Amino acid sequence: MLEIDAVTTTYGAVRALDEVTIGVDEGSITAVLGANGAGKTTLLRTISGLVRPRSGRITAFGRDITRTPTDEIARGGLAHVPEGGGVITELTVEENLRLGALWRRDRADRAAALREVHELFPPLAERGDRAASTLSGGERQMLAIGRALMSRPRLLLLDEPSLGLAPLVTERIMHVLRDLRSRTGLTVVLVEQNARSALSISDRGFVLALGRVVASDDAGTLLADDQLRHAYLGF
Ligand SMILES: Nc1ncnc2c1ncn2[C@@H]1O[C@H](COP(=O)(O)OP(=O)(O)O)[C@@H](O)[C@H]1O
Ligand SMILES: [Mg+2]
Repeated sequence: MLEIDAVTTTYGAVRALDEVTIGVDEGSITAVLGANGAGKTTLLRTISGLVRPRSGRITAFGRDITRTPTDEIARGGLAHVPEGGGVITELTVEENLRLGALWRRDRADRAAALREVHELFPPLAERGDRAASTLSGGERQMLAIGRALMSRPRLLLLDEPSLGLAPLVTERIMHVLRDLRSRTGLTVVLVEQNARSALSISDRGFVLALGRVVASDDAGTLLADDQLRHAYLGF
């Protein structure tokens, strides 16, 4: 579904990603873990086409997207929830959701997507006409994910959805992601500093440190590796 092959991304002299190779199976949840500054956000931005790699190759949905324009990658079925969610607080909840499906021509399809998101996140249905600024942190993250789902993606990239959320709210969001994957077969790349929560719903995990992949394994194996947990995962 997604192959990142020896990708190097730089900002001037900073090597944010250094020959990163990651494979993501269709229908899987893949956790990308690592401390602040490890290169997690850069990885997602490179996949989405928001920054261009200096070298390496990215293949998604069976085609090379390394130099494909961002909007074309999105139309191909990729949705990216940025760090912090990127919700537009001046708009209502429903307006934010509709933005996620703006380029979809089919009205019936858009209505169906909205119903699905409402089912997944009932608070968004109840608060549809409220300004997004009135939402709690957890609801705002639900809105960010819901908006991404409005485009009916095949591949969902999430950048630290648990950031700043209470443990119970984090758990609820992780639960929804797992549920969504098992019902729809969505492929998810989940970037997190919160390694324990992320691994609890993931199939595989990759650990980044200073732009390099320092570990990759089944989620259960990573969770059980005390040395790795202490060195890189902070729990
Ligand atoms: N726009 C940028 N310009 C210059 N350096 C950047 C930029 N964005 C990130 N970096 C640097 O790239 C490295 C990786 O950052 P980032 O991908 O944001 O890591 P993470 O998401 O894991 O915290 C860090 O050293 C960071 O300071
Ligand atoms: Mg980041």
